[in-house]
Amino acid sequence: MSAIKKGVILAGGSGTRLYPLTSSLNKHLWPVYDKPMLYYPLATLMGAGIRNICIVGSPRDIAAYRAVLENAGRWGIKISCREQSEPFGIAHALGCAADFLEGDGSAVILGDNFFCGEEFLYGNIRAFRGGALAFTQKTPEARRFGVMELDRDGKPVSVVEKPPVADSGLAITGLYLFDGAVADHCFAVGVAERGEMEITDVLARYMSAGELSAVVLGPKTGWMDMGTPESLLQAALVVRQAAQNDAALIGCPEKTAYKMGFISREEFGALISAMPPCEYRQNLLRAALRMAS
Ligand code: G1P
Repeated sequence: MSAIKKGVILAGGSGTRLYPLTSSLNKHLWPVYDKPMLYYPLATLMGAGIRNICIVGSPRDIAAYRAVLENAGRWGIKISCREQSEPFGIAHALGCAADFLEGDGSAVILGDNFFCGEEFLYGNIRAFRGGALAFTQKTPEARRFGVMELDRDGKPVSVVEKPPVADSGLAITGLYLFDGAVADHCFAVGVAERGEMEITDVLARYMSAGELSAVVLGPKTGWMDMGTPESLLQAALVVRQAAQNDAALIGCPEKTAYKMGFISREEFGALISAMPPCEYRQNLLRAALRMAS
């Protein structure tokens, strides 16, 4: 079981890259194929054995997040919410969870980040002992993200938010592991070029202290950020393909809760029975039967 017991989902921000879609409804509530976006980062954290999870969002959205997750109490996890009064950036949002973290280590995931095939991630989460760790992946579009450079030994030597040129091609995904000092680092970063307090500046502070490590995800771990119309569509297609091919369902907290032993077989069955007839229920039912056989 992981040494990390707490998780934070950062679901603030104004979603300007998805305007006009985001003018009235926050992107984290949107469908990604058959379920709300928030389910995906939540299931990723749960799959790491994390049951104590805090969601940070704007005051406008928190009530809707609570409504979307109204059944989470039956998934064997505890959800807390914290408000981010203004969209001052990811580091600011994480600072808003300081009283939830209480100086404990945490896995932090951005609410629009989509992972699949996470077993490799989970091994690293279990092995984490301190400092900060960023999960990275090679991508031709690295410039769209925070970008990291590693030395020959795999140690981070630079961390830059959306550089004009990304020679390393190594994008920093929206999943991070932090020790108990992270809130102090968040409070200490300044406002960067795009007017926000950047998570990459938090990582850079750990790097300066020699406490940052990086894991490069291979092709077996799927990663996308769902912050553009194109990536949102691509993520939905991946989820649809998995559901239609009867492969392991992606982003289902109920199934993950059962798989992780957070709930019993009977509780899993009761959750499915309580759902109205819908495709999601059908898919879960098929998954439950497969898991039982
Ligand atoms: C944020 C982070 C960036 C990271 C990306 C991953 O970017 O600032 O470092 O690579 O998420 O999704 P944003 O989505 O705020 O542009």
